[in-house]
Amino acid sequence: VLLCALSSGALAQLSTDTSLSQSALHPASSQAQDIELLWWIMFWASVIIFTAVMALLAWGLLSGRRRPSVLSSTASMRFVLVAGVAIPALVLSALVGGSLMLGRSIASTPPPDALQVRVTGWMWWWEIEYLDDNGEVVATTANEMHVPVDRPVAVELESGDVIHSFWVPRLQGKTDMVPGKTNNSWFTATETGEFRGQCAEFCGLQHALMAFVVIAQPEAEFANWLQRQASPASAPETEAAQNGLAVFEQNCGQCHRIRGTNAIGNLGPDLTHVASRSTLAAATLPNKRGHLAGWISDPQRIKPGNNMPRTLLSPQELDHLLVFLDSLD
Ligand code: CUA
Repeated sequence: VLLCALSSGALAQLSTDTSLSQSALHPASSQAQDIELLWWIMFWASVIIFTAVMALLAWGLLSGRRRPSVLSSTASMRFVLVAGVAIPALVLSALVGGSLMLGRSIASTPPPDALQVRVTGWMWWWEIEYLDDNGEVVATTANEMHVPVDRPVAVELESGDVIHSFWVPRLQGKTDMVPGKTNNSWFTATETGEFRGQCAEFCGLQHALMAFVVIAQPEAEFANWLQRQASPASAPETEAAQNGLAVFEQNCGQCHRIRGTNAIGNLGPDLTHVASRSTLAAATLPNKRGHLAGWISDPQRIKPGNNMPRTLLSPQELDHLLVFLDSLD
């Protein structure tokens, strides 16, 4: 129990990206608070049981040396039945019961006014779609999920290829994303901030680099963000950006979509507002010009095995492409 508790909670904090908090012990939603409470109950139960067992062991070893038998055989048997069978059965049943009850309560049906978001796992990135009341997609983004603070967010979880698992330790426990099936999760962020999410089911070579960012912001700020994301890309203004769009449509548009242009691919992330995102390649790199250039030039060096092929561009084409992508805020 101690090892399980430690591995699920504290070790999450030691994970790759230290710039964003990913600790189940610093909850930022009511669901994560319940998980934290269970973690501490399990932790202290483990500490008490471990200490008691070690104390009994020490007592047994030390007194056994002086006298061959401390207790009569009937008393020994009674002790084994009570301390070795009855107490562990009671304690384990209570802990299992507690975690089952917690699992039910955090997986309950979200309130009807919840914001509807559909997240699809792909090797190795996250597609994020915002839905209106009729279930129609309003805006599509990738690897960065914005949510309003203090409002429930219902998340439909799907997979486009293999099994992934949606996990934002500060907001909610893990939920698997299974091909051909829709799973559900929901949470209400209780504070603003940026929370790291991580795929929690081994899904191939770059499983460790399948991360994302959840940004909880005030409702008005979120509404502005969503409105911006829902709009198509604005037409490129400078000549360099116009050239960059042509380079994009010719080399990248088969896989990526930029709404408002002829790039209508749907194999990779929607890049309509890519410049507004803080990271690249599923929270692998900061979204800076140099990183983007490196990623476009040789994506296999950064994430070997990913589906993005190397694009052979002249230095000028790459420069124009970067100017164009940088204009997509
Ligand atoms: Cu997706 Cu691990």
